[in-house]
Amino acid sequence: MVYGSFDDASREYVICRPDTPSPWINYLGNEDFFTLISNTSGGYSFYKDARLMRLTRYRYNNAPRDLGGQYFYIKEGETVWNPGWMPTRTPLDRYECRHGLGYTIIQGGKNGLVARQTSLVPLGHNALVTRLEIVNQSDSAKSFDLFSSVEFCLWNALDDATNFQRNYSTGEVEVEGSAIYHKTEYRERRNHYALYSVNQPINAFDTDREAFLGPYNGYDAPEKVFAGHLGNSIASGWSPVGCHQLAINLTPGEMKGFIFILAYCQNAPADKFTAPGVINKAPARAVMEAFATDTQFEESLAALRSYWDQLLSIYQVSSGEETLDRMVNVWNQYQCMVTFNMSRSASYYESGIGRGMGFRDSTQDLLGFVHLIPERARQRILDIAATQMADGSAYHQYQPLTKRGNSEVGSGFNDDPLWLIFGVAAYVKETGDTSILDAMVPFDNDPEQAEPLYEHLRRSFRYTLANLGPHGLPLIGRADWNDCLNLNCFSNKPGESFQTTANYESGVAESVFIAGMFVGVCDDYAALMSRCGQAVEAGEVPKLKEQMRRRVLKSGWDGEWFLRAFDAHGKKVGSHECGEGQIYIEPQGFCVMAGIGIEEGLAKKALDAVWQRLMSVHGIALLTPPYSRYYPHLGEISSYPPGYKENGGIFCHNNPWVAIAETELGHGGRAYEIYRRISPAHIEDQSLHLTEPYVYSQMIAGPFAPRFGQAKNSWLTGTAAWCFHAITQSILGVKPRYDGLLIDPCLPAFLRVMHITRRFRGNTYLIDIQNHAGDEKGKLSLTLEGKKMAGNVLPLTGETGKVYRVEAVLTKTGG
Ligand code: BGC
Ligand code: NOJ
Repeated sequence: MVYGSFDDASREYVICRPDTPSPWINYLGNEDFFTLISNTSGGYSFYKDARLMRLTRYRYNNAPRDLGGQYFYIKEGETVWNPGWMPTRTPLDRYECRHGLGYTIIQGGKNGLVARQTSLVPLGHNALVTRLEIVNQSDSAKSFDLFSSVEFCLWNALDDATNFQRNYSTGEVEVEGSAIYHKTEYRERRNHYALYSVNQPINAFDTDREAFLGPYNGYDAPEKVFAGHLGNSIASGWSPVGCHQLAINLTPGEMKGFIFILAYCQNAPADKFTAPGVINKAPARAVMEAFATDTQFEESLAALRSYWDQLLSIYQVSSGEETLDRMVNVWNQYQCMVTFNMSRSASYYESGIGRGMGFRDSTQDLLGFVHLIPERARQRILDIAATQMADGSAYHQYQPLTKRGNSEVGSGFNDDPLWLIFGVAAYVKETGDTSILDAMVPFDNDPEQAEPLYEHLRRSFRYTLANLGPHGLPLIGRADWNDCLNLNCFSNKPGESFQTTANYESGVAESVFIAGMFVGVCDDYAALMSRCGQAVEAGEVPKLKEQMRRRVLKSGWDGEWFLRAFDAHGKKVGSHECGEGQIYIEPQGFCVMAGIGIEEGLAKKALDAVWQRLMSVHGIALLTPPYSRYYPHLGEISSYPPGYKENGGIFCHNNPWVAIAETELGHGGRAYEIYRRISPAHIEDQSLHLTEPYVYSQMIAGPFAPRFGQAKNSWLTGTAAWCFHAITQSILGVKPRYDGLLIDPCLPAFLRVMHITRRFRGNTYLIDIQNHAGDEKGKLSLTLEGKKMAGNVLPLTGETGKVYRVEAVLTKTGG
């Protein structure tokens, strides 16, 4: 079954039927205000923080799954329908949804009327703005009613979903003309309210949910809509909603447009009221004035388009492979920006009330967006570093609004600190901005404990070395990258968090993965230290790197592949000696990426083992064979049924590690094949895959799962950043380095001629690549502006605003 296709020229994904196998969503907003919107107009909006500042309500775990959003109802005669099909599910004569970059267009038609709703969050505004255009395509005049509806959330989404004894009594609204104001809790400590308005006079409204729906109806059959008259209800407690009614007449061929605004409005505490109990509507009026006309709306859409054109022009490839190009040029970078905005907070799988920003997640996400928004990346690094503790460990998560470490989860994930070095290195390589290393950053958000950023990096590095186990390998703590490999936690209580239960700090459970990561980050750490006057520290790194490398080879090698860990009893995890979980993907990827075992021929062996044991048509499984039962000494990993999530699912996030590792060995063909297998745009069976074909999902069920090939957890995953890194840097080979741009492709044979445009440090490089080396890396010869280069780094010239022509030719080694 086909549900949609890419429109490359408009940079849109076009969904051609509403009943997609799961909701296929888009993200609107790129600053402080965000809306999730599905192909049937489901979703919700929030300001800055999906947990603390939720404007509209969304009930996860609903049936049907995607119910709740901004819905428009059209009632013509006895027929009531929605342009996005949901929630009435009245069959439509036509339907199309176009998810674009920061906007979504949903178009539905019925009985000669066509309604087209274009939604976006305009740059510089805290509002979801939707223009609804309705055309009469029939040859007779039509009279019908248009109804809008949103359901307000009482701001704190967790409290909203749990504290009914209070919340059924707090809801308050005001209505003035066509503007509905949701002002719950504004009377006390909040200084913000929500506006839901339309730019034309209305015939009626409702603001009380039960009055609108009827006490026993759902959104598929709102009583007042079917009756054809809203009741002008004013909510008092219970569940406030915003609903407008407009009576419309259209002659044949006539079109009318309406602009609906859902906005977050804030006042200074002293200016909250204009009369006792009457909210100050000045900020609401300002936003209504900004989007009163079609021209204003068009301008904001055009501004959004040019914003994205500009961002995406930083890296563009033309490879002759359209599926590759559309992922690299548009959708992969777009998803990276969404991970910048959301980290792991709000998607259709992340409720927005659980995890906030992840320390390791956001530092890895940097790899995918640092070239797009370097200034914001800088701030992100400083925010994250401020949640580090003085001993070098780190809060695992923090809330985006408060930017404070989340003490419910705490620290003890021993890979976290090293990711900071990793992220800072990516930033400095992209920008050359070494001044960030001297920026003063508090520990644990305490200004009294501020130190330069390089000191944070030093504590990260030293934290690993201060926490070594019996084999001299890093202790794992609560978990490393694999949140579910909880070797010190031993949870036996149902419902308890596997990660935050007791940490027995065995002093024994060690991670080969962290060891690989440590070795991998050493060169960057030394480079950064020497760039901020810490030559002594930098000088010590090579010795420490070599020591750790040797330890991995001595104690972390299992004979055919790298071991995963030692558990709290000193037993091997991820070894051929184990009954289950004999080989894990993470250390194979990370140790080889770090260069461990390459000279010795072990790296090749490890990757061969990955192909033989973990590879499948849908990508590389995390481990095999999966655990068939729960083992408290291994933790959450064994809690999942075999083949799902960390227990042998295809965890897409670490597939690109293996692709990158393959390029370290020069295997371009193998690297690309890994990239291709998990690329959403390459997926043929959309019904099986389930999730959006334009973005990566965190996990695809593995070969041992009953639903092998079915994806889950789309959008918010480190897969986006890592796949972008793997394809653009390791495979296509354009690599930002501290002192220039390294050209180092490692391609599959079928990619023969490519053009890449890359803006870097103020200049534009037009790079032509010819591949005569086949599937292996080959030998590179490089010319810059027609002059043959000695090495393969395009040096910095101190100039900006230049356009440089680069030619790279790969030939067979020895050929
Ligand atoms: C998931 C992991 C995730 C963790 C976050 C687990 O249930 O399987 O993928 O990292 O929760 O706390
Ligand atoms: C998802 C989490 O967000 C990430 O931090 C973790 O590394 C992976 N799951 C693997 O457990």
